[in-house]
Amino acid sequence: MERLDAIIEELIEKAKNILRHSYAPYSGIHVSSAIYTDKGNIYLGVNVENSSYGLTICAERSAIASMVSNGERKPLIVAIITDYPQPIPPCGACRQVIAEFNEDTVIVMYSIKSKVKQIVRLSEIFKSPFKL
Ligand code: THU
Repeated sequence: MERLDAIIEELIEKAKNILRHSYAPYSGIHVSSAIYTDKGNIYLGVNVENSSYGLTICAERSAIASMVSNGERKPLIVAIITDYPQPIPPCGACRQVIAEFNEDTVIVMYSIKSKVKQIVRLSEIFKSPFKL
């Protein structure tokens, strides 16, 4: 439990450090994500917006892409950090993409503005992922 708390703090710290890399000129909402895997590694990502708004990539999905690109398949914890006044929950698309790899992933949401932190299991907030 103490170890879990320490990992969560490390994920928040690592995601905070790259929040400035977020490319969000349209919404102004900066988001970064840090993923802890079953192999004990951490992968990072930020949101990447586009002038064609619908092409925007969320922070969680860029972190998942990094995890898979590095040969890993199992996220245990996904932290989502933002400068928005409230913690940001994963959007529907990100819930589906995370569920592809682990439906039971622990989701940590943290706002650097309000310093509010929320922790839920993906399975609590996303009941019926699409599965083939
Ligand atoms: N965003 C994320 O990065 N993750 C989410 O799960 C929700 C939304 C980003 C996308 C966009 O750049 C900004 O937040 C506002 O929607």
